[in-house]
Amino acid sequence: MSGVSNESTVMDLGLAPEGHKKIEWAATHSPVLNQVRDEHLMDGSFEGLNVGVVLPIEAKTAYLAVVLTEAGADVTVASPSPFMVQDDVAAALVERGVTVYASSLDAPEDSEKEMERLLDRVLREGPGVLIDDRAGLAALLHTTRRNLLANARGASEETTTGVAKMAAMHEEGILEIPCLAANDARCKHLFDNRYGTGQSTLTALMQSTNLMLGGKRVVVLGYGWCGKGIARYAAGLGARVTVCEVDPVRGLEAYADGFDVLPALDAAETGEVFITATGVRDVLTPEHFGRMRNGAILANAGAVDIEVDVAGLSSAATEVRDVRRDVEEFAMPDGRRLYLVGRGMVVNLTAGDGHPVEIMDLTFAIQALCAHHLAKEYATMSPGVHRLPKEIDDEVAALKLDAVGMGIDALTPEQERYLRSWRE
Ligand SMILES: NC(=O)c1ccc[n+]([C@@H]2O[C@H](COP(=O)([O-])OP(=O)(O)OC[C@H]3O[C@@H](n4cnc5c(N)ncnc54)[C@H](O)[C@@H]3O)[C@@H](O)[C@H]2O)c1
Repeated sequence: MSGVSNESTVMDLGLAPEGHKKIEWAATHSPVLNQVRDEHLMDGSFEGLNVGVVLPIEAKTAYLAVVLTEAGADVTVASPSPFMVQDDVAAALVERGVTVYASSLDAPEDSEKEMERLLDRVLREGPGVLIDDRAGLAALLHTTRRNLLANARGASEETTTGVAKMAAMHEEGILEIPCLAANDARCKHLFDNRYGTGQSTLTALMQSTNLMLGGKRVVVLGYGWCGKGIARYAAGLGARVTVCEVDPVRGLEAYADGFDVLPALDAAETGEVFITATGVRDVLTPEHFGRMRNGAILANAGAVDIEVDVAGLSSAATEVRDVRRDVEEFAMPDGRRLYLVGRGMVVNLTAGDGHPVEIMDLTFAIQALCAHHLAKEYATMSPGVHRLPKEIDDEVAALKLDAVGMGIDALTPEQERYLRSWRE
Protein backbone atom coordinates (compact mmCIF):
# COMPACT_ATOMS: atom_id res chain seq x y z
CA MET A 1 0.00 0.00 0.00
CA SER A 2 1.23 3.49 -0.80
CA GLY A 3 3.00 5.37 1.94
CA VAL A 4 1.87 8.74 0.62
CA SER A 5 -1.51 10.24 1.45
CA ASN A 6 -2.30 13.86 0.61
CA GLU A 7 0.95 15.55 1.55
CA SER A 8 2.03 12.96 4.12
CA THR A 9 4.93 10.60 3.59
CA VAL A 10 4.86 7.53 5.80
CA MET A 11 6.16 4.00 5.28
CA ASP A 12 2.96 2.04 4.83
CA LEU A 13 -0.63 3.18 5.41
CA GLY A 14 -1.61 -0.50 5.76
CA LEU A 15 0.04 -0.51 9.20
CA ALA A 16 -2.56 1.94 10.56
CA PRO A 17 -4.78 -0.57 12.50
CA GLU A 18 -1.93 -1.47 14.89
CA GLY A 19 -1.11 2.24 15.25
CA HIS A 20 -4.71 3.06 16.16
CA LYS A 21 -4.59 0.48 18.95
CA LYS A 22 -1.42 2.05 20.36
CA ILE A 23 -2.93 5.54 20.22
CA GLU A 24 -6.10 4.28 21.93
CA TRP A 25 -4.01 2.84 24.78
CA ALA A 26 -2.30 6.22 25.21
CA ALA A 27 -5.68 8.01 25.08
CA THR A 28 -7.12 5.73 27.77
CA HIS A 29 -4.20 6.50 30.09
CA SER A 30 -4.12 10.27 29.51
CA PRO A 31 -6.81 11.60 31.85
CA VAL A 32 -5.09 14.97 32.31
CA LEU A 33 -4.70 15.74 28.60
CA ASN A 34 -8.29 14.63 28.01
CA GLN A 35 -9.58 16.98 30.66
CA VAL A 36 -7.40 19.85 29.42
CA ARG A 37 -8.87 19.29 25.96
CA ASP A 38 -12.45 19.34 27.23
CA GLU A 39 -11.99 22.33 29.54
CA HIS A 40 -9.63 24.60 27.55
CA LEU A 41 -8.66 23.56 24.05
CA MET A 42 -12.08 23.53 22.42
CA ASP A 43 -12.63 27.31 22.77
CA GLY A 44 -11.87 28.02 19.10
CA SER A 45 -8.28 29.27 19.62
CA PHE A 46 -6.93 26.48 17.39
CA GLU A 47 -9.62 26.72 14.72
CA GLY A 48 -7.84 26.76 11.33
CA LEU A 49 -4.43 27.32 12.96
CA ASN A 50 -1.51 25.27 11.67
CA VAL A 51 0.51 23.71 14.49
CA GLY A 52 3.92 22.29 13.53
CA VAL A 53 5.14 19.53 15.83
CA VAL A 54 8.58 17.93 15.91
CA LEU A 55 8.63 15.04 18.32
CA PRO A 56 9.39 11.32 18.15
CA ILE A 57 6.49 9.56 16.41
CA GLU A 58 5.04 7.10 18.88
CA ALA A 59 1.68 6.65 20.54
CA LYS A 60 1.87 9.43 23.15
CA THR A 61 3.09 12.16 20.81
CA ALA A 62 0.55 10.93 18.28
CA TYR A 63 -2.20 11.40 20.83
CA LEU A 64 -1.10 15.00 21.45
CA ALA A 65 -1.39 15.61 17.68
CA VAL A 66 -4.83 13.95 17.67
CA VAL A 67 -6.05 16.12 20.55
CA LEU A 68 -4.85 19.31 18.85
CA THR A 69 -6.61 18.18 15.65
CA GLU A 70 -9.80 17.57 17.61
CA ALA A 71 -9.47 21.14 18.91
CA GLY A 72 -9.55 22.43 15.32
CA ALA A 73 -5.84 22.78 14.49
CA ASP A 74 -4.24 21.64 11.22
CA VAL A 75 -1.39 19.62 12.64
CA THR A 76 1.82 18.70 10.82
CA VAL A 77 4.29 16.37 12.52
CA ALA A 78 7.82 15.19 11.79
CA SER A 79 10.23 13.15 13.86
CA PRO A 80 13.64 14.47 14.93
CA SER A 81 15.11 11.24 13.57
CA PRO A 82 14.02 8.30 11.39
CA PHE A 83 15.17 6.10 14.28
CA MET A 84 12.38 7.59 16.39
CA VAL A 85 9.46 6.67 14.15
CA GLN A 86 6.94 3.92 14.79
CA ASP A 87 5.56 3.40 11.28
CA ASP A 88 2.21 1.98 12.41
CA VAL A 89 1.58 5.05 14.55
CA ALA A 90 2.62 7.37 11.69
CA ALA A 91 0.12 5.62 9.39
CA ALA A 92 -2.69 5.85 11.97
CA LEU A 93 -2.02 9.56 12.41
CA VAL A 94 -2.51 10.15 8.69
CA GLU A 95 -5.88 8.41 8.95
CA ARG A 96 -6.76 10.75 11.80
CA GLY A 97 -6.22 13.84 9.66
CA VAL A 98 -2.67 14.78 10.67
CA THR A 99 -0.02 15.57 8.03
CA VAL A 100 2.95 13.33 8.78
CA TYR A 101 6.49 13.46 7.42
CA ALA A 102 8.03 10.45 9.09
CA SER A 103 9.18 7.03 8.01
CA SER A 104 11.69 4.69 9.59
CA LEU A 105 12.79 3.89 6.03
CA ASP A 106 14.22 7.40 5.83
CA ALA A 107 17.23 6.04 7.80
CA PRO A 108 19.78 8.37 6.33
CA GLU A 109 23.50 8.35 5.70
CA ASP A 110 23.59 11.87 6.98
CA SER A 111 20.88 12.13 9.62
CA GLU A 112 21.47 15.82 10.27
CA LYS A 113 20.63 16.76 6.66
CA GLU A 114 17.63 14.46 6.67
CA MET A 115 16.35 16.05 9.86
CA GLU A 116 16.69 19.51 8.34
CA ARG A 117 14.74 18.39 5.29
CA LEU A 118 11.86 17.09 7.45
CA LEU A 119 11.79 20.18 9.65
CA ASP A 120 11.72 22.31 6.51
CA ARG A 121 8.64 20.43 5.30
CA VAL A 122 6.90 21.20 8.59
CA LEU A 123 7.80 24.88 8.26
CA ARG A 124 6.57 25.02 4.68
CA GLU A 125 3.03 24.40 6.02
CA GLY A 126 3.35 27.86 7.61
CA PRO A 127 2.75 26.93 11.27
CA GLY A 128 1.30 29.57 13.58
CA VAL A 129 2.47 27.66 16.65
CA LEU A 130 5.53 25.41 16.89
CA ILE A 131 5.96 22.55 19.33
CA ASP A 132 9.69 22.25 19.01
CA ASP A 133 12.37 19.70 19.88
CA ARG A 134 15.91 20.95 20.56
CA ALA A 135 14.92 24.28 18.92
CA GLY A 136 15.24 22.69 15.46
CA LEU A 137 12.22 24.46 13.99
CA ALA A 138 13.02 27.78 15.66
CA ALA A 139 16.60 27.73 14.37
CA LEU A 140 15.52 27.09 10.75
CA LEU A 141 12.76 29.67 11.01
CA HIS A 142 15.30 32.33 12.01
CA THR A 143 17.81 31.38 9.29
CA THR A 144 16.76 29.75 6.01
CA ARG A 145 12.97 30.16 6.43
CA ARG A 146 12.81 33.74 7.65
CA ASN A 147 10.09 34.40 5.06
CA LEU A 148 7.72 32.35 7.27
CA LEU A 149 8.48 34.23 10.50
CA ALA A 150 5.51 36.57 10.06
CA ASN A 151 3.10 33.59 10.36
CA ALA A 152 4.59 32.29 13.59
CA ARG A 153 2.91 33.30 16.84
CA GLY A 154 5.38 31.43 19.02
CA ALA A 155 7.08 28.19 19.96
CA SER A 156 6.85 25.83 22.89
CA GLU A 157 10.05 23.89 23.59
CA GLU A 158 10.11 20.32 24.88
CA THR A 159 13.74 19.80 25.86
CA THR A 160 16.35 21.15 28.28
CA THR A 161 18.77 21.46 25.37
CA GLY A 162 16.24 23.34 23.21
CA VAL A 163 15.41 25.84 25.96
CA ALA A 164 19.15 26.59 26.30
CA LYS A 165 19.45 27.05 22.52
CA MET A 166 16.48 29.41 22.39
CA ALA A 167 17.93 31.42 25.29
CA ALA A 168 21.21 31.64 23.32
CA MET A 169 19.29 32.90 20.26
CA HIS A 170 17.62 35.52 22.44
CA GLU A 171 20.96 36.51 23.95
CA GLU A 172 22.32 37.11 20.45
CA GLY A 173 19.28 39.25 19.72
CA ILE A 174 18.00 37.12 16.85
CA LEU A 175 14.92 35.50 18.42
CA GLU A 176 11.83 37.21 16.98
CA ILE A 177 9.04 35.13 18.53
CA PRO A 178 7.95 34.32 22.08
CA CYS A 179 9.03 30.87 23.24
CA LEU A 180 7.51 29.05 26.17
CA ALA A 181 9.93 26.82 28.07
CA ALA A 182 7.57 23.84 28.42
CA ASN A 183 10.57 21.83 29.60
CA ASP A 184 10.99 24.09 32.62
CA ALA A 185 7.45 23.52 33.85
CA ARG A 186 7.62 21.77 37.20
CA CYS A 187 5.09 19.24 35.94
CA LYS A 188 7.48 18.51 33.07
CA HIS A 189 11.04 18.22 34.29
CA LEU A 190 10.29 16.91 37.81
CA PHE A 191 8.41 13.95 36.32
CA ASP A 192 9.34 13.54 32.64
CA ASN A 193 13.08 14.15 32.96
CA ARG A 194 13.42 12.40 36.30
CA TYR A 195 10.96 9.51 36.53
CA GLY A 196 10.20 9.16 32.82
CA THR A 197 13.82 9.08 31.69
CA GLY A 198 14.82 7.03 34.72
CA GLN A 199 12.34 4.23 34.12
CA SER A 200 12.35 4.16 30.32
CA THR A 201 16.13 4.40 29.88
CA LEU A 202 16.69 1.38 32.06
CA THR A 203 13.77 -0.51 30.49
CA ALA A 204 15.28 0.13 27.04
CA LEU A 205 18.73 -1.00 28.21
CA MET A 206 17.45 -4.16 29.83
CA GLN A 207 15.14 -5.07 26.95
CA SER A 208 17.69 -4.52 24.23
CA THR A 209 20.55 -6.33 26.01
CA ASN A 210 18.49 -8.90 27.94
CA LEU A 211 21.06 -8.47 30.74
CA MET A 212 20.41 -7.74 34.41
CA LEU A 213 21.45 -4.53 36.15
CA GLY A 214 21.52 -5.91 39.68
CA GLY A 215 25.11 -6.00 40.95
CA LYS A 216 26.51 -4.17 37.90
CA ARG A 217 28.63 -1.06 38.17
CA VAL A 218 26.52 1.56 36.41
CA VAL A 219 28.13 4.93 35.67
CA VAL A 220 25.69 7.82 35.21
CA LEU A 221 27.25 10.87 33.55
CA GLY A 222 25.35 14.03 34.46
CA TYR A 223 23.35 14.34 37.68
CA GLY A 224 20.63 16.72 36.50
CA TRP A 225 16.96 15.76 36.49
CA CYS A 226 17.51 12.91 34.03
CA GLY A 227 20.67 11.62 35.67
CA LYS A 228 19.02 11.63 39.12
CA GLY A 229 16.17 9.50 37.77
CA ILE A 230 18.49 7.06 36.03
CA ALA A 231 20.74 6.72 39.08
CA ARG A 232 17.79 6.21 41.41
CA TYR A 233 16.12 3.54 39.26
CA ALA A 234 19.46 1.77 38.65
CA ALA A 235 20.12 1.69 42.40
CA GLY A 236 16.58 0.39 42.91
CA LEU A 237 17.42 -2.51 40.59
CA GLY A 238 20.46 -3.34 42.69
CA ALA A 239 23.16 -1.69 40.56
CA ARG A 240 26.24 -0.12 42.15
CA VAL A 241 26.02 3.44 40.88
CA THR A 242 28.83 5.93 40.24
CA VAL A 243 28.01 9.48 39.18
CA CYS A 244 30.23 11.79 37.07
CA GLU A 245 29.58 15.53 37.16
CA VAL A 246 31.17 18.88 36.30
CA ASP A 247 29.08 20.86 38.80
CA PRO A 248 30.47 20.43 42.36
CA VAL A 249 27.07 21.00 44.00
CA ARG A 250 25.42 18.37 41.84
CA GLY A 251 28.37 16.06 42.53
CA LEU A 252 27.94 16.58 46.26
CA GLU A 253 24.20 15.98 45.94
CA ALA A 254 24.94 12.64 44.25
CA TYR A 255 27.32 11.75 47.09
CA ALA A 256 24.69 12.68 49.70
CA ASP A 257 22.18 10.56 47.78
CA GLY A 258 24.47 7.60 48.41
CA PHE A 259 26.46 7.30 45.18
CA ASP A 260 30.19 7.28 44.45
CA VAL A 261 31.30 10.40 42.58
CA LEU A 262 34.34 10.15 40.32
CA PRO A 263 35.92 11.89 37.32
CA ALA A 264 34.77 10.14 34.13
CA LEU A 265 38.25 8.88 33.22
CA ASP A 266 38.48 7.09 36.58
CA ALA A 267 34.94 5.73 36.37
CA ALA A 268 35.75 4.47 32.85
CA GLU A 269 38.11 1.88 34.33
CA THR A 270 35.61 0.17 36.60
CA GLY A 271 32.20 0.79 35.02
CA GLU A 272 30.25 -1.96 33.28
CA VAL A 273 27.35 0.16 32.00
CA PHE A 274 27.73 3.84 31.06
CA ILE A 275 24.75 6.15 30.57
CA THR A 276 25.21 9.80 29.54
CA ALA A 277 22.54 12.40 30.40
CA THR A 278 24.23 15.80 30.18
CA GLY A 279 23.02 17.63 27.05
CA VAL A 280 26.70 18.25 26.24
CA ARG A 281 28.91 16.81 23.46
CA ASP A 282 31.94 14.49 23.85
CA VAL A 283 31.22 13.23 27.35
CA LEU A 284 32.55 9.76 26.47
CA THR A 285 35.42 9.89 23.98
CA PRO A 286 38.17 7.56 22.69
CA GLU A 287 40.18 8.44 25.80
CA HIS A 288 37.42 6.86 27.91
CA PHE A 289 36.82 3.94 25.51
CA GLY A 290 40.55 3.11 25.74
CA ARG A 291 40.21 2.52 29.51
CA MET A 292 36.94 0.57 29.54
CA ARG A 293 36.64 -3.08 30.49
CA ASN A 294 35.84 -5.76 27.96
CA GLY A 295 32.07 -6.00 27.53
CA ALA A 296 31.26 -2.47 28.70
CA ILE A 297 27.84 -1.27 27.58
CA LEU A 298 27.30 2.36 26.49
CA ALA A 299 24.10 4.32 26.03
CA ASN A 300 23.01 7.94 25.84
CA ALA A 301 19.84 9.34 27.39
CA GLY A 302 20.57 13.00 26.65
CA ALA A 303 19.00 14.88 23.78
CA VAL A 304 22.41 15.40 22.19
CA ASP A 305 23.40 12.40 20.08
CA ILE A 306 27.11 13.26 20.27
CA GLU A 307 27.38 12.81 24.05
CA VAL A 308 28.97 9.46 23.24
CA ASP A 309 31.52 10.10 20.48
CA VAL A 310 30.19 7.36 18.23
CA ALA A 311 32.33 8.49 15.28
CA GLY A 312 35.42 8.20 17.53
CA LEU A 313 34.29 4.78 18.73
CA SER A 314 33.81 3.57 15.14
CA SER A 315 37.24 4.83 14.06
CA ALA A 316 38.90 3.16 17.05
CA ALA A 317 37.21 -0.18 16.29
CA THR A 318 38.56 -2.80 13.89
CA GLU A 319 35.07 -4.17 13.28
CA VAL A 320 31.51 -3.02 14.01
CA ARG A 321 28.56 -5.37 13.81
CA ASP A 322 24.96 -5.61 14.98
CA VAL A 323 24.73 -8.29 17.66
CA ARG A 324 21.12 -7.75 18.70
CA ARG A 325 18.38 -5.43 17.65
CA ASP A 326 19.56 -1.99 18.88
CA VAL A 327 22.94 -3.28 20.08
CA GLU A 328 26.16 -2.77 18.10
CA GLU A 329 29.44 -4.43 18.98
CA PHE A 330 32.71 -2.53 18.53
CA ALA A 331 35.79 -4.78 18.39
CA MET A 332 38.84 -2.89 19.65
CA PRO A 333 42.36 -3.61 18.37
CA ASP A 334 43.42 -5.06 21.77
CA GLY A 335 40.63 -7.65 21.67
CA ARG A 336 38.14 -5.87 23.99
CA ARG A 337 34.56 -5.53 22.80
CA LEU A 338 32.37 -2.54 23.67
CA TYR A 339 28.62 -2.45 23.10
CA LEU A 340 26.57 0.58 22.10
CA VAL A 341 22.80 0.54 22.65
CA GLY A 342 20.48 2.64 20.48
CA ARG A 343 23.26 4.04 18.24
CA GLY A 344 24.20 6.68 20.81
CA MET A 345 20.92 8.50 20.23
CA VAL A 346 18.27 9.03 22.92
CA VAL A 347 18.19 5.41 24.04
CA ASN A 348 14.73 5.29 25.55
CA LEU A 349 13.30 6.37 22.20
CA THR A 350 15.58 4.63 19.70
CA ALA A 351 15.65 1.34 21.63
CA GLY A 352 12.44 1.64 23.61
CA ASP A 353 8.90 2.92 23.76
CA GLY A 354 9.79 6.26 25.37
CA HIS A 355 8.42 7.50 28.67
CA PRO A 356 5.51 5.80 30.42
CA VAL A 357 2.12 7.03 29.22
CA GLU A 358 1.21 8.63 32.56
CA ILE A 359 4.35 10.77 32.44
CA MET A 360 3.65 11.95 28.90
CA ASP A 361 0.07 12.70 29.92
CA LEU A 362 1.51 15.41 32.19
CA THR A 363 4.09 16.62 29.67
CA PHE A 364 1.62 16.84 26.82
CA ALA A 365 -1.06 18.47 28.95
CA ILE A 366 1.63 21.13 29.56
CA GLN A 367 2.52 21.26 25.84
CA ALA A 368 -1.14 21.53 24.80
CA LEU A 369 -1.71 24.37 27.28
CA CYS A 370 1.49 26.11 26.13
CA ALA A 371 0.37 25.88 22.49
CA HIS A 372 -3.07 27.16 23.53
CA HIS A 373 -1.50 30.05 25.47
CA LEU A 374 0.63 31.03 22.46
CA ALA A 375 -2.31 30.74 20.06
CA LYS A 376 -4.41 33.01 22.28
CA GLU A 377 -1.98 35.39 24.00
CA TYR A 378 0.84 35.78 21.47
CA ALA A 379 0.02 39.42 20.81
CA THR A 380 0.73 40.27 24.45
CA MET A 381 4.03 38.38 24.57
CA SER A 382 7.45 39.77 23.67
CA PRO A 383 10.11 37.81 21.75
CA GLY A 384 12.24 35.81 24.18
CA VAL A 385 12.09 32.72 26.35
CA HIS A 386 9.18 32.81 28.80
CA ARG A 387 8.46 30.63 31.78
CA LEU A 388 4.99 29.26 31.53
CA PRO A 389 2.35 30.75 33.83
CA LYS A 390 2.33 29.09 37.27
CA GLU A 391 -1.42 28.43 36.99
CA ILE A 392 -0.77 25.98 34.13
CA ASP A 393 1.60 23.93 36.27
CA ASP A 394 -0.72 24.01 39.26
CA GLU A 395 -3.75 23.00 37.23
CA VAL A 396 -1.99 20.06 35.56
CA ALA A 397 -0.70 18.76 38.91
CA ALA A 398 -4.13 19.14 40.53
CA LEU A 399 -5.83 17.32 37.65
CA LYS A 400 -3.35 14.44 37.93
CA LEU A 401 -3.77 14.15 41.70
CA ASP A 402 -7.52 14.09 41.18
CA ALA A 403 -7.20 11.43 38.47
CA VAL A 404 -5.29 9.12 40.83
CA GLY A 405 -7.69 9.70 43.70
CA MET A 406 -5.31 11.85 45.75
CA GLY A 407 -5.82 15.35 47.07
CA ILE A 408 -4.04 18.16 48.89
CA ASP A 409 -4.99 20.89 51.36
CA ALA A 410 -5.27 24.65 50.89
CA LEU A 411 -3.69 27.25 53.19
CA THR A 412 -6.16 28.72 55.67
CA PRO A 413 -6.55 32.54 55.58
CA GLU A 414 -4.61 32.65 58.90
CA GLN A 415 -1.76 30.64 57.38
CA GLU A 416 -1.66 32.89 54.31
CA ARG A 417 -1.56 35.95 56.56
CA TYR A 418 1.21 34.38 58.65
CA LEU A 419 3.30 33.70 55.54
CA ARG A 420 2.90 37.29 54.31
CA SER A 421 3.62 38.94 57.66
CA TRP A 422 7.07 39.59 59.17
CA ARG A 423 5.69 40.63 62.56
CA GLU A 424 4.49 37.17 63.62
N1 LIG B 1 15.91 10.72 27.27
C1 LIG B 1 14.86 11.48 27.50
O1 LIG B 1 13.72 11.06 27.34
C2 LIG B 1 15.08 12.88 27.98
C3 LIG B 1 14.07 13.52 28.71
C4 LIG B 1 14.30 14.83 29.18
C5 LIG B 1 15.50 15.46 28.88
N2 LIG B 1 16.46 14.80 28.13
C6 LIG B 1 17.75 15.39 27.79
O2 LIG B 1 18.71 14.90 28.73
C7 LIG B 1 19.75 15.89 28.91
C8 LIG B 1 19.87 16.25 30.39
O3 LIG B 1 18.65 16.83 30.82
P1 LIG B 1 18.45 17.32 32.33
O4 LIG B 1 17.07 17.85 32.42
O5 LIG B 1 18.92 16.28 33.27
O6 LIG B 1 19.49 18.55 32.34
P2 LIG B 1 20.18 19.26 33.59
O7 LIG B 1 20.69 20.54 33.05
O8 LIG B 1 19.27 19.24 34.76
O9 LIG B 1 21.41 18.28 33.93
C9 LIG B 1 22.54 18.08 33.15
C10 LIG B 1 23.69 17.78 34.10
O10 LIG B 1 24.82 17.34 33.34
C11 LIG B 1 25.98 17.91 33.95
N3 LIG B 1 27.06 17.90 32.96
C12 LIG B 1 27.30 18.78 31.95
N4 LIG B 1 28.39 18.41 31.27
C13 LIG B 1 28.88 17.31 31.86
C14 LIG B 1 29.99 16.47 31.61
N5 LIG B 1 30.85 16.70 30.61
N6 LIG B 1 30.20 15.42 32.44
C15 LIG B 1 29.36 15.15 33.47
N7 LIG B 1 28.28 15.92 33.74
C16 LIG B 1 28.04 16.98 32.95
C17 LIG B 1 25.54 19.29 34.39
O11 LIG B 1 26.39 19.83 35.38
C18 LIG B 1 24.13 18.99 34.91
O12 LIG B 1 24.12 18.69 36.29
C19 LIG B 1 19.35 17.07 28.02
O13 LIG B 1 19.96 16.93 26.77
C20 LIG B 1 17.85 16.89 27.89
O14 LIG B 1 17.32 17.55 26.75
C21 LIG B 1 16.26 13.51 27.70
